[in-house]
Amino acid sequence: MENKKPDVIREQAEYRSTEFKTNDAMEVLQREYAQVKPVYEAGIREINARLETLDSEFSLKFMHNPIHHLESRVKSLDSIIVKLHSMGYPISISCAKKTLHDIAGVRVVCRYVDDIYRIADLLLAQDDINLILKKNYIENPKPNGYRSLHIVVDVPVYMSQGKLYIPVEIQIRTVAMDFWATLEHGIRYKRTDAVPPRIVDELRACADVITETDYKMQKIFQALQMVGDKDEESPESIIEADGRRPGR
Ligand code: GTP
Ligand code: MG
Repeated sequence: MENKKPDVIREQAEYRSTEFKTNDAMEVLQREYAQVKPVYEAGIREINARLETLDSEFSLKFMHNPIHHLESRVKSLDSIIVKLHSMGYPISISCAKKTLHDIAGVRVVCRYVDDIYRIADLLLAQDDINLILKKNYIENPKPNGYRSLHIVVDVPVYMSQGKLYIPVEIQIRTVAMDFWATLEHGIRYKRTDAVPPRIVDELRACADVITETDYKMQKIFQALQMVGDKDEESPESIIEADGRRPGR
């Protein structure tokens, strides 16, 4: 999920050479990271299992898989160091555990916009999942046009020491939003300087076109589903409505 960008690699190298004058500090970090990584991996496995269960059940009941695919990653030690450094926090695993909510990350790529909310609602309705943070970049896109629903949840995992609640950042988006975000990420992260405002405007214009198509495709899908369900309403009349759901 996280591509390494040249400026980050340079920043890491510079940072290590100044702050970590001895290899000892880095070795301690590496050892502590190796200890906590399996716990975050367990959090990811737990979320993935619940998402896969929801998707399978949906497929059986409604002959529709809301989830197109899942991606996940545990944030690398290098990325943790850079992020703590950029936030002005001490560089330690205990500080990372307290302050970073995206050490475990899952990306859920859905087919349609409605699927995003269905999946988020069903996951959040599970009584042992606690919502920590929600950012709706679908209703409130970023200035560059970025859209996705971000939620951070605490999920229980059972380790040898007992039950632990692990924060997992879940980004939920459509295939179309993912297409835009993947290309935009590549464009942005190849640069070391800021993206010029004109390009930001162009990216937003592309995102807006993609969004329109996203809703049109959803409408077509819904129309054909309804034709299968009942004959009274023509697919054309369903497609004519704009199909966007109220803000969440
Ligand atoms: P991070 O420090 O990057 O985690 O940002 P944040 O804590 O302010 O959270 P935010 O919700 O803005 O972004 C979290 C993650 O969403 C990022 O790490 C990216 O994976 C993704 N993301 C956010 N904004 C953009 C964007 O403009 N373009 C792309 N491609 N991805 C984005
Ligand atoms: Mg992040």
